[in-house]
Amino acid sequence: MKKYEIGLIGLSVMGQNLALNIARNHSIAVYNRTESKTRAFMKDKVKNQDLKAAYELEDFVASLEKPRKIMLMIKAGKPVDLVIDSLLPYLEAGDIIIDGGNSHFDDTNRRLNNLKEKDIRYLGVGISGGEYGALHGPSIMPGGNEEAYAEVSEIMEDAAARTEKGACVSYLGPNSAGHYVKMVHNGIEYGIMEVLAEIYDYMRKVLQLKPEEMGDIFAEWNQEFDSYLVEITAKIMKKDDPKTGRKLIDLILDKAKHKGTGKWSVQSALDLGTAIPTINAGVNARLMSAIKSERVENAAQFADDTRAVVSKDEMLPVLKSALYFASVIAYTEGFKLLKTASEEYNYQLNYKEIARIWEDGCIIRSGLLEPIQAAFADDMQLKTLITAHQFKAQLNAAAEEIEKIITTAAQSGLPLTAVHSALDYFNSLKSEELPANLIQAQRDFFGAHTYQRRDEDGIFHTEWE
Ligand SMILES: NC(=O)c1ccc[n+]([C@@H]2O[C@H](COP(=O)([O-])OP(=O)(O)OC[C@H]3O[C@@H](n4cnc5c(N)ncnc54)[C@H](OP(=O)(O)O)[C@@H]3O)[C@@H](O)[C@H]2O)c1
Repeated sequence: MKKYEIGLIGLSVMGQNLALNIARNHSIAVYNRTESKTRAFMKDKVKNQDLKAAYELEDFVASLEKPRKIMLMIKAGKPVDLVIDSLLPYLEAGDIIIDGGNSHFDDTNRRLNNLKEKDIRYLGVGISGGEYGALHGPSIMPGGNEEAYAEVSEIMEDAAARTEKGACVSYLGPNSAGHYVKMVHNGIEYGIMEVLAEIYDYMRKVLQLKPEEMGDIFAEWNQEFDSYLVEITAKIMKKDDPKTGRKLIDLILDKAKHKGTGKWSVQSALDLGTAIPTINAGVNARLMSAIKSERVENAAQFADDTRAVVSKDEMLPVLKSALYFASVIAYTEGFKLLKTASEEYNYQLNYKEIARIWEDGCIIRSGLLEPIQAAFADDMQLKTLITAHQFKAQLNAAAEEIEKIITTAAQSGLPLTAVHSALDYFNSLKSEELPANLIQAQRDFFGAHTYQRRDEDGIFHTEWE
């Protein structure tokens, strides 16, 4: 019986497209819990590829070369455990399970350790780029058993997106390093998406621009930004609704959903004691958007059409600066979180390499990743991107301008959480003096929590009254 190089379980959007991608260069067997989905895939999508469908798990495993390499592209959470359990009776020592879904990094650590006891090697692999990326080349973020990675690296490199610097995949580190980096990638994505949403909101409500016009502006800006998220925002603004002929963006309900990776980034950052306010703003803004009916009720009580009067010609360059500034800060927060996590979990992350594999095949690909790589090439131990010469002067200049949109947004009753958070993050990070002396005094006042002094070593407590 012919043996296939790799097997893939899970034929939903991502799995189908990744299987077709892998099949361009390697033989692959596929399996899905619901048989009808496999049959439809084989009938509608598979043409002459070296791709075999299996309808029983045992046959699926038996059709693979040893050591077996099995990629899971299934719903994150409990299903991954269930599928691993159902595979185990058919696996042998040395076989490799690759979880390509958005699993929580704690789950990946647990699975990796459990499977190590059974001599099954495990890789937690973040895959970005959505449906298009999965088919045409995603950014792939693998972590886990390094020796196992060496055995699948050729398949990963052939499937990944490619720039002139190489394939957008790189072994990132032990244990859950891959899934952690993917989670932070998604966190940065939440931050930049919200920044774009706020700039759009300012354009439509304060500058009173129409979607078509905003589409032109985002497209023009993107000649400089070279950012996937700016590019799709420009295209979204231009899209007509076939039913009504109106712009589709005006017809989409303002209630954002989320699947959890942004929230996990914030939870992990809090656990590690690192602030990521711009990313957090992205998560919070989605939560605020979700309570639409409550917002509608409240709006009726606070009806206010005050709008700051500003010059479009004056404000558009400021909005562009805000987009640059807050995007850089979202990456800055993300890399800071990666650095903290790498030290805490011993991931030994290479930040320059992470920025390189994000240059294509992923949602946060943008022209900013080039200077980020340069900054880490200059100093791999860089504490924060804001001090890198690639960003320092530009951030400072943009920060001075942004004040104009923050005040005029506030005058117009417009929330600008992510842009504001980015500015606060920058201002905090470059402040020699923060008012935490008062916080310490208050803590000591009501809870005898003690404090340190500037003029003397030691721990102090005062009887305040
Ligand atoms: N969609 C994206 O743009 C995107 C981007 C990056 C990463 N991801 C991640 O990639 C993974 C796959 O995403 P997706 O959107 O293609 O699919 P999904 O909707 O997250 O998951 C559906 C797949 O999981 C299988 N599944 C669910 N519960 C199962 C169970 N108890 N036992 C066996 N199989 C089970 C389904 O099989 P049945 O057909 O039998 O129900 C189906 O193949 C997820 O972890 C997702 O978070 C998605």
